[in-house]
Amino acid sequence: MSQATSATATSPQVLPFYKAIPRLVKDPVTELAKMGVEANGRIVRLDLGPFRPYLISHPDHVQQVLKTDWSNFVREGMFWRPVQRVTGHSILGEGDGWASTRKILQPLFTARYTASLAEDMADIISECIVELEDFARTGRPIDGGHQMTTIVNQAVIKVLFGGRISRDTAERLAPEFATCATSIGFRLLVPFAPYSIKVPGDRAFLRSAKKIDEIVYPLIEQASREKSHSNEVVSELLTARIEQDGKADLRQVRDDLVSIYGAASETTAMSLTWLWSVLHEHPEVNARLQDEVRRVVGDSEVRPSHVAELKYLRMVLQELLRVYPSAWIIPRQTVADTEIGGVRIKAGSQVLVSPYTTHRLPEFWDRPSEFDPERWANEKAERRHRYSFIPFGAGPHVCLGQHLFYVEAPLVIANLLSRYRPVLTNPQRLTPIPGASVRPKEKLLLQLEPIERNAA
Ligand code: HEM
Repeated sequence: MSQATSATATSPQVLPFYKAIPRLVKDPVTELAKMGVEANGRIVRLDLGPFRPYLISHPDHVQQVLKTDWSNFVREGMFWRPVQRVTGHSILGEGDGWASTRKILQPLFTARYTASLAEDMADIISECIVELEDFARTGRPIDGGHQMTTIVNQAVIKVLFGGRISRDTAERLAPEFATCATSIGFRLLVPFAPYSIKVPGDRAFLRSAKKIDEIVYPLIEQASREKSHSNEVVSELLTARIEQDGKADLRQVRDDLVSIYGAASETTAMSLTWLWSVLHEHPEVNARLQDEVRRVVGDSEVRPSHVAELKYLRMVLQELLRVYPSAWIIPRQTVADTEIGGVRIKAGSQVLVSPYTTHRLPEFWDRPSEFDPERWANEKAERRHRYSFIPFGAGPHVCLGQHLFYVEAPLVIANLLSRYRPVLTNPQRLTPIPGASVRPKEKLLLQLEPIERNAA
């Protein structure tokens, strides 16, 4: 239900075209956050010509859009239309299709189920990290963003298909997903352009989408023929779909798998990419993290059982998600006329919930621009506004992959740090650029200095 509009509406802070555009062209992510912070969490209306979205950052307003009045703020229009072209009718959609999928997926991504996938995930992550040995030996730097994407893609594919997919096929699949994620950029800028008009990126996008189908469908068919039950997502999905719908529609299972992949991979890979720049800028955090990994893991292989003991690493990840929430905006479209914080908003308007801004509001965060993992030391005792930290969204659409993230990311980081000391060879100020996830514009080149290890 939409909120009733009151007689005494207040106006949003309006940023006129001539002021908004030059700022957003220069550095859109940073400037958008500054606009919200300058407005002190008040609603900002951006005048971007035909596109006039509302920027939402105050935790009370976030709560209304994502939780209390969520059904009036739907995933349609800008951003979602191009995304749904690959993900189809599944968990990244809206309405009945989303609701029935959420019912199936929710029990799948519990802490317990995630734990059952973790051993396989640890194996593949460790394999990928050992393969970096050659870079360490020759001193050739790795491209941080590219390697984090490769490792995360392999781990997510393992979670989805388990032993059903060979390493070779997974290696063919991962770049196709990556192409879909990056070639969608232009469509995100012109979401209402009809598909009959070709825009840059379309050809690469369609080619990759076709290749994904050519690889994924046979895997689903194989899983549906085999009666033996295993715990990877594709088998669980087939079983759950048969239980719920009486049969498993292969197209539906394909949409589910591609949607989970889309939600799980880029977000995680980009968070891990920012980490290496942060550690370079904060040598004290870096040293403490290295010590913890050394103490907990030693010379052994990193296993999921180590994750719970890596407490400082978890604090670093929480702070990383505060400062660089990879889901930097959560877009919505209003269904009916409504009011947020006294501002009247018409049906069909675009509303941008901005975790990147909310996480920087001085009213809710002490020293918001400082990277300080210590602020998470006493998380339970802290009395924060519940909607002031929203890297995983909130309400009925809240992220299903939080447990997975807090297992997968520590496995990657601890694996790397137990073998190498990554040194950033091209330190520079990074510019966050918008996309489905926020990523640094510049490449991060990391030299991997090997750590002396005693043979296990
Ligand atoms: C750093 C890592 C991640 C971040 C920052 C992140 C962030 C988010 C956010 C903000 C949403 C809410 C979207 C909305 O309200 O429209 C979301 C939804 C979702 N996330 Fe994540 N996510 C991450 C990792 C993962 C992983 C590893 C998975 C693996 C399963 C996952 C699965 C999902 C799914 C399925 C949804 C849709 C839930 C729904 O609409 O009902 N995410 N995520």
